[in-house]
Amino acid sequence: MDKKAKKKVLQMIPYGAYVVGTKTPEGGDHLMFGTWLMQTSFKPVLVAFALSEDSRTLVHVRDSKQFAVSFLTDGMNGVAESIVDGSFAKVKTEHTPSGLPLVAGAAGWLECHVIELSEKGDHRIALAELVDVGVGSGKLMPLEALKWHYGG
Ligand SMILES: Cc1cc2nc3c(=O)[nH]c(=O)nc-3n(C[C@H](O)[C@H](O)[C@H](O)COP(=O)(O)O)c2cc1C
Repeated sequence: MDKKAKKKVLQMIPYGAYVVGTKTPEGGDHLMFGTWLMQTSFKPVLVAFALSEDSRTLVHVRDSKQFAVSFLTDGMNGVAESIVDGSFAKVKTEHTPSGLPLVAGAAGWLECHVIELSEKGDHRIALAELVDVGVGSGKLMPLEALKWHYGG
């Protein structure tokens, strides 16, 4: 396989800028920047998020079987950078009614209950049922607006 072509084509897949919110085993809030999200079923509504095998987020998801996804809006570049840097204190948060952490002012959010974790590859696919949703204002920021790539 042509490695350059593989990277170029895989990086053509469009992604959004999301923040995965989880609870630590101690009950604290945790945020992770991520982008590999898709809907996989209408009835029931299922979504899949690919979580790095090295991430603390995956540890939390294995433990709690739940996560929230905040949809960052255009202009939330600073929020994305703070989360990638681990500067969570700079990020204003709120919570879903059940207590999962969200980014305040997001375009929308999902709350998901995990029904299956695939154990293949270096990211584990958390297949999850949508259990709650909220809509804010603005549009989802596409990953390309940050000039970042994840894929290849
Ligand atoms: C542009 C970009 C996209 C990313 N997308 C994902 C993703 O979809 N899934 C994932 O597990 N990690 C993704 N990451 C990597 C995580 O943000 C990173 O591994 C993080 O340190 C894991 O955080 P945690 O250990 O606190 O959970 C992405 C990083 C960047 C910069």
